[in-house]
Amino acid sequence: MYSEDLKNSYPIFDTHAHYDDERFDDIREELFCEMQQNGVYGIVTCGCDEVSSKKAIKLAEDYDFVYAAVGIHPGNIDSGTTIEQIKSLATHPKCVAIGEIGLDYYWVKDNKDLQIEIFENQLMLAKKLNLPVIVHDRDAHQDTMELLKKHKPKGVLHCFSGSVETAKEVLRLGMYIGFGGALTFKNARKALEVADMLPLDRLLLETDCPYMAPVPMRGKRNDSSLIPYVAEKMAEIKNTDAQSVLDIATKNTKKLFNI
Ligand code: NI
Repeated sequence: MYSEDLKNSYPIFDTHAHYDDERFDDIREELFCEMQQNGVYGIVTCGCDEVSSKKAIKLAEDYDFVYAAVGIHPGNIDSGTTIEQIKSLATHPKCVAIGEIGLDYYWVKDNKDLQIEIFENQLMLAKKLNLPVIVHDRDAHQDTMELLKKHKPKGVLHCFSGSVETAKEVLRLGMYIGFGGALTFKNARKALEVADMLPLDRLLLETDCPYMAPVPMRGKRNDSSLIPYVAEKMAEIKNTDAQSVLDIATKNTKKLFNI
């Protein structure tokens, strides 16, 4: 566990990770130990179906600094996971959110109605359980925003890829915006505009690991200890220092997930 000193000096909180991924199987234990020494104070690891949600819960049970989110990802609808299964996992004391849920019209376009139905059911579940949501929106900004406006959940739009206008709507709903490695990519023009407009008290930091490693580690396996690269980019945009960005993002995270 963390010493109090470390907690206060360098708090990295990764609000969106996939540590159930098999790419971590050989090194997970060693990596978690190392990350705690490298200032990683907390992690929310997200499920995408029943199997990965169960794994997320197990990791949260095994490691004090890991928290779980459970849900059905739009890309995992074929898994056959039911809302009832997610509901029963969500009552675990270390489950802090319903996620990763949302809409993805980039990878799958032929099941929009089903994606919407499952997303909407999970928004209602989160409300019922008084949990925030972790939302995935890829090429589905309009439908995503419509459902968020209808249900008004607490939560975060993760790996935000929308416009400044959409981001403003997200903020009006009282939600947070999550930024990860993509903010450091060369083609991040839109993300940079959103980051510039975003008040820091609505920022969450994330990895989406094992994917989306930030520059200069782009293309490699990502993990939570690389978040300072994202914080540095954000600090450059906001004309402040990375430590302040990490501090405020961690504060926001604890508030949203009630940690
Ligand atoms: Ni994800």
